[in-house]
Order: sequence, then C-alpha cells, then structure tokens
Amino acid sequence: MRVLVMGSLNYDFVYEVDHIYRPGETIESLSLETYYGGKGLNQAIALGKAGVQVYIAGLVGEDGESLRNCCKEHGIDTAYLKTVKGKSGHAVIQVDKNGQNSILLYGGANRSQRKENIDEVLDNFQAGDILLLQNEINQLEYIIDKAWERKMTIVLNPSPINKELCSYDLSQISVLLLNEIEGEELTGAAKPEDMINALKKKYRNTDIVLTLGERGALCSFRNEIVYEPSKKVEAVDTTAAGDTLFTD
Ligand code: RIB
Repeated sequence: MRVLVMGSLNYDFVYEVDHIYRPGETIESLSLETYYGGKGLNQAIALGKAGVQVYIAGLVGEDGESLRNCCKEHGIDTAYLKTVKGKSGHAVIQVDKNGQNSILLYGGANRSQRKENIDEVLDNFQAGDILLLQNEINQLEYIIDKAWERKMTIVLNPSPINKELCSYDLSQISVLLLNEIEGEELTGAAKPEDMINALKKKYRNTDIVLTLGERGALCSFRNEIVYEPSKKVEAVDTTAAGDTLFTD
C-alpha cells in the first residue's frame, strides 16, 4: 500500500499559557517550545511510524531544510517535497493548563501549490494508491478532481474547515475523517448520529470516521455504524490529537 500525503508542513511555536488570551489582552507565556507540525506532516509521520510506505508532496520555503530532514528521519519519502521561494508555513500555538489549545496559522509555502506541480506528482500514482488530504494547502478542489480521474482512493480530513471547502462536491471522497465541529459545518446537524446519517445521505459511497475527542469515534463503514471508544490518557497537550486516531 502506498500513501501520498499532499499537505502542509509547519514549524510549530508552542507557547504554554495560563489561559488562552482574550481580545485586547496581553499575557506573558510560561514557556516556548518549537516542534515540527502541519496537519500533513503530522499525519505522514503517524503513517511512517505505523510502517506504511508514505510520500509527502508538500512545499517548504527556503528555511525548510529541517522540515525536510524531519521527514527523512521518520521514513517519509521526500521525492515530491519541493522547496519554493519565501518562508515555510508556521503555527503559533497556545496551550493552556488544561491542555486545550488555540492555533494561529501562517500558510507560507503551503499556499503555493500550482496545477502543473500537482499533475506532475499525481502522474506517479495510480488506482489503488491512497491520497491523504487536509485543508491547509491551496488547490484542494483541483487535487481531488485529478486524483479522482486517476481512480485513487481519496481520504480527506477537512480541517481546518472553511466556507470554500463546504462548497466542494465531496462525493469523490472515499473516506472522510472529521470532528464534530466539521460535521456540524458540513451537515447542520448537532448530534453525531445525525451528522453521520446526513453525510451518508449526501455521499453514499463515502466511509466516515467522526472523531468525538475523549469519547472516541463513530464510524460508518459501508452500511454499518461502529462506535470505537478512545484510549484513556491524561491530556497534556491536545495539539494534533485530531490529526490521528488512537483507539483501543
Ligand atoms: O493539528 C495540529 C496542527 O495544526 C499543528 O501541527 C499546526 O501546525 C497546524 O497545522
């Protein structure tokens, strides 16, 4: 199985704070740590750790050498990772004492995807290969269309959700991996079961994994609905917890 991740790579600046700051407020942070992140890179690393053959087709800026090295260290194939002019993406993340977070994104290189580059990358993949997408890069709709033409299996994590994504025809998606906020945005429903049913009605051929945070996940596979409880852990930092799914 080959998985191609077309997604973001970021430098994450994580500030420990007493509370997530409010409009107009200035607060002192308690510490600063820098990590590698971006929903694309986070998911590619998780796949690499699970022993999957994974490729990342993302864009980094001229400051992106260590993001590239991070991919290599985690066994991610970087043949389709390009360096472009300007800065790599980054995120400013506040984490409060309860482990809750708030994220400010700077897209940088992640927002420089061009159709020619996408076509060139996808030419190396075919039916049976999996394409894993999130919503932190530009040209997402074009990528979905082109991967669909190639009969790839498309997995979409519609995060962070926005109006543009809500307007896409997601019937080409094989697996939708989303949380309750995204579920509500896409369906207008408030309860997980209603979200699943509304999504199933709209996208009949799409399998769904609806993550419920500490409550686990509700999954719809073909016509079966399965509940997966989550593994109980103490929350230290919830950043990126939604990028991967960890169940018992
Ligand atoms: O989901 C967490 C990720 O969101 C962080 O790594 C940050 O870079 C943003 O992309």
